[in-house]
Amino acid sequence: MFKVAVIGASGLLGRAIVDELAGQPDWQVVGTAFSRPAPTTVALDVRDPHAIGQFVEREAPDALVIAAAERRPDVCERDPDLARALNVEAVRAIAAAAQRRGAWTLSLSTDYVFDGTHPPYRHDSQPAPLNAYGRSKLEGERALTETTDLGCVMRLPLLYGPIVDWAESAVTSLVPAIAASASAQGKAAAMDAWAIRYPTFTPDVAFVIRQMLERHAGGNAIRGIVQWSGDEPMTKYEIAVRLAEALELDARLTPQPTPTDATPRPHNCHLISERLEQSGIGRRTPFDTAIRQVLAAFPWRGDRTSDTPD
Ligand SMILES: NC(=O)c1ccc[n+]([C@@H]2O[C@H](COP(=O)([O-])OP(=O)(O)OC[C@H]3O[C@@H](n4cnc5c(N)ncnc54)[C@H](OP(=O)(O)O)[C@@H]3O)[C@@H](O)[C@H]2O)c1
Repeated sequence: MFKVAVIGASGLLGRAIVDELAGQPDWQVVGTAFSRPAPTTVALDVRDPHAIGQFVEREAPDALVIAAAERRPDVCERDPDLARALNVEAVRAIAAAAQRRGAWTLSLSTDYVFDGTHPPYRHDSQPAPLNAYGRSKLEGERALTETTDLGCVMRLPLLYGPIVDWAESAVTSLVPAIAASASAQGKAAAMDAWAIRYPTFTPDVAFVIRQMLERHAGGNAIRGIVQWSGDEPMTKYEIAVRLAEALELDARLTPQPTPTDATPRPHNCHLISERLEQSGIGRRTPFDTAIRQVLAAFPWRGDRTSDTPD
């Protein structure tokens, strides 16, 4: 039996990973949650190194995937101590406990470790984060590689996938404003047409992670830094246009040519995925197909902004 611990199994990506791994014969999966416990998850606060040590000793996983994080740039800007606790110190504590057991650790990071001025970026390009989120994730990458020699960092861009709340992803969080603009009294919705993003489907990332876990299970663990990205460049304005088409809404959207966010964000952090592709790893579902799957599973009802799926 090959056992995988998913730390942060209640989040957007963690849920997709657990779903993907659940189908593996002879694999056992244990997921942790914090504020959203479920009967299938173990409660764990990753700010508590003692609890992490106990969890790893008790569960004795062969591999750990760290999907727990503070990933909202505005929250990281306001509360750098929280960002550091979750994105740096928790990674260090989990990697140390995993190293003691000889377990492989995969830690997820972000394209925001780059400043977005010279895309595309390779795994060994020079990071230069622009905001507190990117700085904390870069420190977390270094915490992992300093702590264990049986670890891997995977950088990811903007994610979307099955949701339990519109706000869970920066892609689906556009839906309420798109729908409001399409209503009878609705005003046009301004959408960022400056930053170029590569929206990446969480079930595809989970598939990639399963392939990486298979390499470790087969004695060929991938180490160091890898990157995985969708290959369709889009601004939020273009994402909103495609969402409106998928929702069949006659939305009134205005492209906003300059950034308006209070937190600085990079212009274009296109990640090159070649290290994984060259190992025969990867899957990309086209955006228009994937977003229709997401919207079919969590339909827009006009009046709900935060809800549980049917
Ligand atoms: N979302 C994106 O667009 C994106 C883009 C690039 C990279 N990433 C990276 O991908 C990874 C997964 O992101 P995500 O979008 O899935 O995040 P998410 O939906 O916000 O999920 C965060 C997870 O962290 C857990 N968590 C929060 N505080 C915790 C604590 N004190 N102790 C233990 N667990 C705690 C949450 O548990 P509860 O919900 O139970 O509290 C949840 O399972 C992160 O490393 C993120 O930086 C995300």
